[in-house]
Order: sequence, then C-alpha cells, then structure tokens
Amino acid sequence: MKNIFRLQVKGLRPLLILFSYSAAALAQSITIPIETKDNALVIQANSDKDLNVIYFGKKLAETDEYDKVSDLYKQRNDNSGVFRSVYTSSGSRNLLEPAITVTHADGDNSLDLKYVGHAVEKISDNVSLLSVVLKDPVYKFEVTLFYKTYFKENVVEQWSEIKHQEKGNVVLHKFASANLYLKSESYWLTHYHGNWAREMQPEEAKLTYGIKTLDSKLGTRANLYMPSVFMVSLNKPATENEGDVLFGALEYSGNFKVDLELDAQNGLRLIAGINNYASEYTLKPNKTFTTPKFLYTFSSKGKGEASRNMQRWARDYKLLDGNGERLTLLNNWESTFFDFNENKLFGLLKDTKNLGVDLFLLDDGWFANKYPRNGDNAGLGDWEPNKKKLPNGVASLVKQAGAEGVKFGIWIEPEMVNPKSELCENHPDWVIKEPARAEKYFRNQLVLDLSNPKVQDFVFGVVDHLFSENPKLAFIKWDCNAVIYNAHSAYLKNQSHFYIDYMRGLYNVLAKVRAKYPKVPMMLCSGGGGRVDYAALQYFTEFWPSDNTDPMERIFIQWEYSYFYPAITSANHVTDWGKQPIKFRTDVAMMGKLGFDLNVKTLSPTDLQFCKAAVQAYNGIKDVVWHGDQFRLANPTEGDVASLLYLTEDKSTGVIFNYLVNNRYAAGSQFPIKLQGLKANKKYKLSEINLYPGTKSTVDEEKTYTGEFLMNVGFNPDVRAGRNSVILKLEAM
Ligand code: DGJ
Repeated sequence: MKNIFRLQVKGLRPLLILFSYSAAALAQSITIPIETKDNALVIQANSDKDLNVIYFGKKLAETDEYDKVSDLYKQRNDNSGVFRSVYTSSGSRNLLEPAITVTHADGDNSLDLKYVGHAVEKISDNVSLLSVVLKDPVYKFEVTLFYKTYFKENVVEQWSEIKHQEKGNVVLHKFASANLYLKSESYWLTHYHGNWAREMQPEEAKLTYGIKTLDSKLGTRANLYMPSVFMVSLNKPATENEGDVLFGALEYSGNFKVDLELDAQNGLRLIAGINNYASEYTLKPNKTFTTPKFLYTFSSKGKGEASRNMQRWARDYKLLDGNGERLTLLNNWESTFFDFNENKLFGLLKDTKNLGVDLFLLDDGWFANKYPRNGDNAGLGDWEPNKKKLPNGVASLVKQAGAEGVKFGIWIEPEMVNPKSELCENHPDWVIKEPARAEKYFRNQLVLDLSNPKVQDFVFGVVDHLFSENPKLAFIKWDCNAVIYNAHSAYLKNQSHFYIDYMRGLYNVLAKVRAKYPKVPMMLCSGGGGRVDYAALQYFTEFWPSDNTDPMERIFIQWEYSYFYPAITSANHVTDWGKQPIKFRTDVAMMGKLGFDLNVKTLSPTDLQFCKAAVQAYNGIKDVVWHGDQFRLANPTEGDVASLLYLTEDKSTGVIFNYLVNNRYAAGSQFPIKLQGLKANKKYKLSEINLYPGTKSTVDEEKTYTGEFLMNVGFNPDVRAGRNSVILKLEAM
C-alpha cells in the first residue's frame, strides 16, 4: 500500500493538513497528486526520500494509477536518480542543470534535498496551496516548494523559499522558482523575441538534446528582446483547438532565466526563475529567500483553451481590478511630442470631450525647469511642471479637464534620470553607473538605484506628490525606457545583490503606491512593450504592448500577447501609423482598451464623425471584449484573414473582429469562418457594427443561425479589398 494524498478543494473552510516524517528511510513511498480540474502534476517521495515527478498531464480518474506510470518506461536507468527531481540540487549526485546551487557556510558546494513533509492549505473553494519541505541530511539547509492551484482555471503557481541555520552565511548561486519534468516523445517550443516596435515575434521549433535557454539580462525593460512567456507542445505542435500544450511565464519584471533541458532519458526538465547572472545571493542564517512565482497552465485541447484559462485566471486572481472597468482616452504623445503649452492642452481637452472618450492623457514633456524636458535628452528626474509650458501647473489642467467633463491622466518615468537634470546633479550617488567607467546611456538616460531605500522614497514621492497636489488625477502612465548598463549601486555593499534588490525596491514602491491609491488605473509602459509580466500586473490595470501602432502590425502583436494576457490589459491606440483607413485602425484598437493618439483637429469631418460613433459603438461592446472569453477563429499567419471572437460566459453575446491581412489579388474570406464556444442549440443573429459613414453592410441581418451551424459550417464576414475590416455583433435570440 502506498500513501496517496490527493490535493483537492472541497468546502469553503480554510484547512491546513500537515504530514511530516522522521529522518529514517520511508517504509513506503508517498505520492502527492497536485490536481486541477483537468490536469495533474504528481510527485512522489521514494524510500530514499528523493522527491520526483512521476506524472504530468491530463488528470486520471483513478489516483492509484499514477504509481503505475514509471514502470512503463523501459529506458536505461538514470544512475543518479535525479533526472525527475522536483527541485534539482547540485554538487552531489546531480550532473544535470540544477534548480539550486549553493556554497555552504563552511565553503562546501554540495547539496542534496530530501523530502521531510508536506502541508495542504485550502484557501478557498477554488484555490489550494501545497507546501513541501525538503532538507539536506548533512547541512542545516532547507527548501520549501509551494504549489498554488487554481482548480477551475487549471492554473498553477509555483515558487520556493530557501533558508538555513548554518553557522555563517550561505551563498546562493542559483535559486529557481520551479523545476518541472515532462515526458513525451518530442517537444515543440514556442517562444518570442523582439525589439522596439517589433514585440512578440513568435518562433516555434522542435527541442533538441541539450539546453535551450530563454533569458534576459537587461535589468529594467527586461522584455525588450525576449519575454519570459512560452509554450511547450508535446509530441507535435499544438494548434488552436488540438494538442497537449503547456503555457509558462515567470511572474517577475527583472532578469529571468528559463532552461529547457532535453535529457538523456528524453524527458524535458524545465527550470525557471530569476536569472542568476551576476546575482549570487548571500543568505544569512534564519533569513528566507523567496523566489518569484512561476506560472503555468496545461491543456490537452490546444492553445485556445490554455489561453482562455490563463486570461480568466488573470482577471479573477492577478490583474489589478481584472473584472472592473477601464477608461478610454486621448493621448497627446504622437500629436505634439514635446511641443505643447497650456493653451494647446486646453484645446486637446476639448477634443477629448468632442471625441467622447473618458480621459485626456498628458504624455512626456510637461516637467523640468533648469533643464527643460523639450526632448528626450534632458530633464528626466525633475518632476516639477515646466513653468513656460504650464505656468499654472498640472492643477490648472486637472481643473480645466473637470470643466470640460473629462478626466485627466499623466505620464511619468520615475525610475529614470537624464544626466542633464537637477536630480542627477544633486544625487549622483542615486544613479546606477560604474564609478570608474564612462557612462553608457540608453535613450540618453540612466536608471535610478532602486535598491537604495532613499531612492525608493523619492520614486514613491513622485507619484504621491502628483496625487496629493491633484486629488482628481485619474490615470498614470508609468514608462520605463532604459535598460541597465554598468550595473553598479553606490548604496549596496554586495554588488551581486544588485539586480534582485532593484526589483525588490521597485515592488516595494509599487506596493506602497497601491496601499495609498488602491484603485487608480495605471498603464505599464516600457518604451513600448519592454516590460509586462504578472508580478507587475498586480499593480497595473493595463499595459502598452508596443509603440508600433500600425494596425497591420498590431493584429499580429496583439494576437501573440493575447495567448497570455486578456484583452482588458491591452492598451491599443488609434494613431497615424500605417496606411490603413481610420476604420481599420480603430477596429484593431477596439480589441482591447481603446484609446486615440492622433490630432483630432486634422481628421476629415467624416473621419471625425466615424471616430465619435466608434467610441459609442465601443461602449456598447467593451464589456464582452474586456470580460468575455476569447476565441481565435482565423490565424493571420496562415491565411488572408484574421478573425477573433469575444464571447460572454453565458454565450449569449459576442463580437467578431475580422481583418484582411493580405493585399494580393482576390485575397479575402472566400470560405466561411467557423465560430467556437457557442451553444449548439441556441439561435443567433449576426449584424455588422462600426460601419464607416456612407457605407452599407453586405451582411444579411434578417437571417438567423443555430450555434451548431455557426460552429460547423461557419459564417462569412465578407472580408476583401474594400471591406478590409469587419466587426460583427453576435446575439442569441
Ligand atoms: C515611450 C512610450 O512607449 C511612448 O508611448 C511615449 O510615452 C514615450 N516613451 C515618451 O517619451
């Protein structure tokens, strides 16, 4: 008989169940299935107390059967016994990529972690937390692994706590959040690369033996070249609705590292955490080092289901105000850049009202006096309103916005500084730079040292000051345009703590901001999409996916982001980028949180008429876009048309966005597009919305269709040249 503990959530009362074992060998193995609605990660402590993964995948009805899995692999023995480890240590038996590497107080480099006990805490009807304690039999060193399961959403968050009671400090060389083990015949990795204006470029490849690493060493703006989000398909590349696929992401805004090691047993060892690059961490006795969370979801029904689960989880559990409302806006960045004054802004407040959006967002350039912020080469760090541009301060703008009946929001970049600024002159020691080397700039700026508590106070003060002076301020755009070169802190004694302590400092500030201003919407921006992850999104209501707002590019960029982030987080602005007509640009921006960043005054009367009506049309559909389930119907990388459906949970209302993505002769929706997620026996009607003034729809609105018909035969939005963007409203009768 084996001990099997099923991690399940029943009833509502929080409950802690504890199991712990003595130092002697276990008389029998201990199996711990970590289950969600459809999936299971099953870990098992053998008689030697090694804790291994014995199963990962679709949940089995009979829990006993997990034990039978391992015997069915007729492979050469893993002599070390660590290939399947739940948290691979190093310096002892292990010769594979470790999850953790340490130097003990006595200088020894070895670690072996044995199962000691576990506890299950029921947090709610849906959420449960398993903690598993592992200890080294030789050193007083322990790791607790945490598995937080979100049952209905099939989502798991995994992290670790590391501590010791040795007679001196221990140095941590590597400290992963999670170490998974997958077993399949082949593995297909989808990951992303990019750069400014080219965010989220996907690549899919079969993993070969050895280690594939996804990482960032940029410090801030850490996702500029690569985000930590990825997918692994088992046996063959998963499609939208078929295949086994794992979605993973690190909830961390700094340097990350995801190692995918295809081992000699054809298992995939997945180790994810903070990047240990230049980051050895000295841990004092009895202090705890907590890693960020690694997030994953698994689906055996393809990428669509995995992404809907992740999106729903984000809205219900992670994102700030995930089920709330958002503000539509007019931004002035692309219409004025740094060239504005109070009068011009008063005009833009009128335009905001005229357009019908909720808020005016004043972007970069409103501050600094000794070195005025008239370009990106000066003033950053000096957060006093520029007296020439704004003689009456921000207050008069907030007041005027109120008089116009719109809200007012403002741009800041509080982590950064131009060398040409009073802040830099007064506090050179607050700036990250190598004391003996030439300064190296990114967009003419340097990064402030957030590992220093005084700098944290300063950054918090930037936000706090704005709100205390302007209690009606309704929105913040928090930008972050530079990476960290010459990573050196004048404050820290131990430089190898820098990258980690910077992030801790940033989260301290954000937590403080949210403690005082819990609800005010904030956009996470990073010179485009250089920073987005679920640790940051606990503090932000939305993010800026890319400075590239060419709608054709945005269809692809937003498509890829949408696998991991719900539409309510995606700030999409209509701008003058791209050659498409205003309708196309607006329709693409509607697939998320709509905003405008163009000169309203130069719009033709008909374009303006269209935009105003589009804002009203958007108000009618935003609820389903923000809070509904998303189904990707036609993939723009595979055909002439992109098509996406947002559907309410009760399947009664939906919106379908369709775009022509190919301009070749006769390109268009020649075949009907199959819908998804509907109720088969419900009758639906489809109508076209957001038409450009003077145009007529070719959709016959009189006809009705069953859900069965629409999902099996489909519907043709009639997308083609001349009708290159079509929004359909779907309503159950
Ligand atoms: C980069 C952002 O992505 C832009 O939207 C704009 O806010 C500029 N920074 C301002 O400097």
